[in-house]
Amino acid sequence: MAAKIIPVALFDAVVFGATGDLTLRKLLPALYWRFRDGQMPDGARVIGAARSDLDDDAFRNRAAQALAAHVPDAARDAPTVARFLAALSYVRLDAAQPDGGWDALAGMLDPSRVRMFYLATAPDLYGRICRNIAAAGLVSAESRVVLEKPIGHDLASAQAINDQVGAVFAEAQTYRIDHYLGKETVQNLLALRFANAIFERLWNADVVDHVQITVSETVGLEGRGAYYDGAGALRDMVQNHLLQLLCLTAMEPPGSLDADRVRDEKLKVLRALRPMTAERVATHTVRGQYEAGAIDGQSVPGYLADLGGGRRSTTETFVALKTEVRSWRWAGVPFYLRTGKRLPHKVSEIVVQFRAVPLSLFGASGGADPLEPNRLVIRLQPEEGMQLAMMTKEPGPGGLRLLPTALDISFEQAFGIRYPDAYERLLMDTVRGNPTLFMRRDEVEAAWAWAEPILDVWTTRGDPPRPYAAGSWGPSAAIGLIERDGRTWHEGG
Ligand code: BG6
Repeated sequence: MAAKIIPVALFDAVVFGATGDLTLRKLLPALYWRFRDGQMPDGARVIGAARSDLDDDAFRNRAAQALAAHVPDAARDAPTVARFLAALSYVRLDAAQPDGGWDALAGMLDPSRVRMFYLATAPDLYGRICRNIAAAGLVSAESRVVLEKPIGHDLASAQAINDQVGAVFAEAQTYRIDHYLGKETVQNLLALRFANAIFERLWNADVVDHVQITVSETVGLEGRGAYYDGAGALRDMVQNHLLQLLCLTAMEPPGSLDADRVRDEKLKVLRALRPMTAERVATHTVRGQYEAGAIDGQSVPGYLADLGGGRRSTTETFVALKTEVRSWRWAGVPFYLRTGKRLPHKVSEIVVQFRAVPLSLFGASGGADPLEPNRLVIRLQPEEGMQLAMMTKEPGPGGLRLLPTALDISFEQAFGIRYPDAYERLLMDTVRGNPTLFMRRDEVEAAWAWAEPILDVWTTRGDPPRPYAAGSWGPSAAIGLIERDGRTWHEGG
């Protein structure tokens, strides 16, 4: 089935941090796919800006290598790649400095186009870069600025960045990326909930026992030790990606799919999260750090060895926690969240566990007893899809024996098309001026306001993270966190 492609308006995209990992690994491949599918109009330009002394050709060479590494051969025919590379140019610019070379960039921009400034740089430069963009007179009415997470490392630093960016760009021009919101299945969650009458009727504390959100990764530091060791899993994953998934799962139906209506509802969820007191942090959160182990039969080093240089660190690479959304819909329903590096499988999923039937009729006739309650698994990656676990009768004579079976939708099989990377969607939404899948300032700050006490209590208590072997599902305390409530993690990987 061919996807319908609607070209976007003519644009100039300026990417600051053009020689960095994010640009090469994610942004250029994403732009290439959109170009290849005919969504990037002829004449649209991508201007790489960085401090390295490169010219257009040298930048295009780097881009070509990045495409070779991150786009499958079958999608890289030489004429298309050559046409895409011709749309790239490079400007040498120290964006943190007011006299860093802005005139050259100014001379390249076309005032009649949508203008995107993508800040693929360290967040502590966002304020300065925006100030310099303004001082160089580059903010047009059709300009947008795109900021990568993390926005700050706590509430105060997030507010400071938002103030600095906000002094130059209006909120409507500011696109804060949480790339999880660009994942197809995350958008499908909106479709599941609000385009199907049956689920919304079941989406509440009367019917739902609890919700689990797992984002597990097999990778370790991937050369990002300098950033990651200062951040840790709570800042890197929970404060943004996992909370956004929680919001989309728990929010009330918005009045419309208008960006602000959706974001208003997510904000209400963030503000309704039960505050993390010192006591709750001690009993409802688990932090871990991986040690050497094995994944898929390959031995992998521990975190400290990955970090290198004989460094010591108490940064967490794993978090599990239990929280609650204090609303009439969700009162008393625990939300269990966990994420970690060097776990056995890469899997991101939301599990909605329904309550058990009030009375089992089947135990006496030799069936499975206890019955397994229904469970809806929304799988974001890999193998995007949804499964509804149900009890059915095992075929054949000999009584009513029951078996758990699944109604299973695999999106790839159902639609037979490639799943676009989240950045493809988000970059084009930025050009279109659609901020629905981006985080608004108040959301980012509400997420920090909830997460910061956890970080503070961890720091005050000074407990080291609990060790776990690479290739395991985290410290045993994470299993204890859910099992002491009589529940278990869904091991779907
Ligand atoms: C990023 C984190 O935001 O998300 C990384 O900084 C993490 O540490 C990545 O590996 C995971 O993204 P994905 O799309 O591979 O699940």
